[in-house]
Amino acid sequence: VRAVVLGASGGIGAALADRLAARGEVLRLSRGDGDFDLTDEASIAASAARVGGDVDLVFCATGELVAPERANRQVAADALARSFAVNATGPALVAKHFLPLLAKDRRAGFAALSARVGSIGDNRLGGWHAYRAAKAALNQLVRTMAVELTRSHPQAFAVTLHPGTVDTPLSAPFQRGVAPDKLFTTDFAAGRLLSVLDGLDASASGGFFAWDGQAIPF
Ligand SMILES: NC(=O)c1ccc[n+]([C@@H]2O[C@H](COP(=O)([O-])OP(=O)(O)OC[C@H]3O[C@@H](n4cnc5c(N)ncnc54)[C@H](OP(=O)(O)O)[C@@H]3O)[C@@H](O)[C@H]2O)c1
Repeated sequence: VRAVVLGASGGIGAALADRLAARGEVLRLSRGDGDFDLTDEASIAASAARVGGDVDLVFCATGELVAPERANRQVAADALARSFAVNATGPALVAKHFLPLLAKDRRAGFAALSARVGSIGDNRLGGWHAYRAAKAALNQLVRTMAVELTRSHPQAFAVTLHPGTVDTPLSAPFQRGVAPDKLFTTDFAAGRLLSVLDGLDASASGGFFAWDGQAIPF
């Protein structure tokens, strides 16, 4: 197995890379190592060029919970723009440059971390406008790119995933109301996410799945 993890410095990204290392070669790409910045397409393209091709799995584990709004009056243009840049545009540019690297002669996959709160159909609580909207956009972008992927790489899939609530710096400020058995370790979440991917093939491409394998409504 040849895998690439973008955002390997993150809580979930590091755990994914550690688990993938047990299966074969894994390339860990992160901002701190100067590999790429989501807001700099040239750096994403340069990383893809270094990786080459014939990849079994590309996992984009990046993201940022930008200014979680609690009321409509807190909606702000700069937070919306920032959330879209990091949570939607950046991963879409990763897909643009890394989907062509997927192996063509066997099953191969691209996954990006989204979040259940990006589900429009599932949104009853409100709040977190910029993060929700950017994750909804990410789901749409990956689904759209999956359509063309089916033509260029008939055995490949591209999906977005919800990891559950995972104990990382991103979720740290919001863990207070979470029951202990609903707060996953990064290793548990990584294991579940890789199991979900193990069960997918091209027929699942464009889907949005949770850590337990359930499809989430868009
Ligand atoms: N934790 C949860 O409960 C939870 C729940 C639902 C969804 N998610 C999603 O899961 C993903 C990973 O989250 P996490 O909890 O593992 O968070 P995390 O520990 O904060 O990791 C975030 C990762 O994204 C990278 N990143 C952020 N902005 C970047 C940029 N401009 N360029 C390149 N890399 C950038 C970070 O790199 P640096 O190290 O350089 O900052 C880091 O590797 C996110 O998409 C998040 O929305 C998490």
